[in-house]
Amino acid sequence: MPRQNIIPDILSIYNSPKSKRPWHFEELVGRRPVNYFAFGRGALVEAFRLCGVGQDDKVLLPAYICRGVLASLHAVGAHPLYYQVERNLKAAFNPNSTPPAKAVLAVNYFGFPQHLDIFERYCKRTGAFIIEDNAHGLFSMDEEGRMLGTRSDMGVFSLRKTIPLPNGAALVINRSDFNDKLAKQKPFEASRADFLFTLKQSVRRFIGSFGVQSARAVISILRIRRQMMIGSPIPLPDPDDEVVLPEPAGCSPLVRDGINTVHPRLETDRRRALYLFLHEWIGRHSKCTPVFKDLPDGVVPYGYPFICEPDDLKNIERLLFRKGFLCISWPDLPDAVKESSPSFYKKVRLVPFLW
Ligand SMILES: Cc1ncc(COP(=O)(O)O)c(C=O)c1O
Repeated sequence: MPRQNIIPDILSIYNSPKSKRPWHFEELVGRRPVNYFAFGRGALVEAFRLCGVGQDDKVLLPAYICRGVLASLHAVGAHPLYYQVERNLKAAFNPNSTPPAKAVLAVNYFGFPQHLDIFERYCKRTGAFIIEDNAHGLFSMDEEGRMLGTRSDMGVFSLRKTIPLPNGAALVINRSDFNDKLAKQKPFEASRADFLFTLKQSVRRFIGSFGVQSARAVISILRIRRQMMIGSPIPLPDPDDEVVLPEPAGCSPLVRDGINTVHPRLETDRRRALYLFLHEWIGRHSKCTPVFKDLPDGVVPYGYPFICEPDDLKNIERLLFRKGFLCISWPDLPDAVKESSPSFYKKVRLVPFLW
């Protein structure tokens, strides 16, 4: 990969010129049928409903997943059937012998395309539907130039993870026989999150104009405050996330009215520049190893994922923070897989590209 000499400013997004014309997610996905939700988990519930997943049905999903996804299964009364992933996060199960499920989740981890052939073979045998979980991969494409989230029966997007928004997620339908079955769009509703978002955006813009040092100071204060309140500088895992869907259900009107907090092309460039910088810099400053060895054309990364041994963690966290980057553990694994999972599942760290 080419060496990057410029350190991209993680906060530049909040003060960069906005897109002249607000854009709509439907345009991005070629005007396919779309239903909007506040969270990706709501979009998953609707996806399961469309696939006919009901009480005591099975959904095949990766064991390497955040526990919140289980709440969507819980909402329709379904049970998880887990498959494992390789160290490069490629799905690893036998499509000829894995027990049948009503639906299977193919996750484009961190915006990198998941190979779908294994899922297609499984579905051919069992009649399951493929839901492409593209919560991380807005703007991303595969090597054939296909937008992630549009390559299988349906795609789930969590827009709020890539774009500064109060909330916002989408379910995209990619097969015409489902068009009429898609539920009516629930009303868009401004909630407390919209009010807080406006406030946060002003604060981010203000802090951003003073550079990374002031942002670091604010983060440090927030961490000290959290430490005093809950005894930890970062939010604690909550087992209830496996059964409770987040509120509100309705998507923010900002998504309906046109998104103007980032420009798709500028955001693509910003994310790829951050990724290339970190790929080179982390490799030079630590023994940590990348999850993906390349950044293929078309991929718009969610963040920079890498594998870090426990001994190196404090050091790399400190170095990254000095440069203005945070580093989080991903995912908060479901309780059922925590103990039995391969050790690298717990060693993946992610540098998020949104503060
Ligand atoms: C891979 C994946 N899918 C789905 C979701 C659910 O998205 P949301 O948090 O918007 O409900 C998440 C959340 O972290 C996720 O990481």
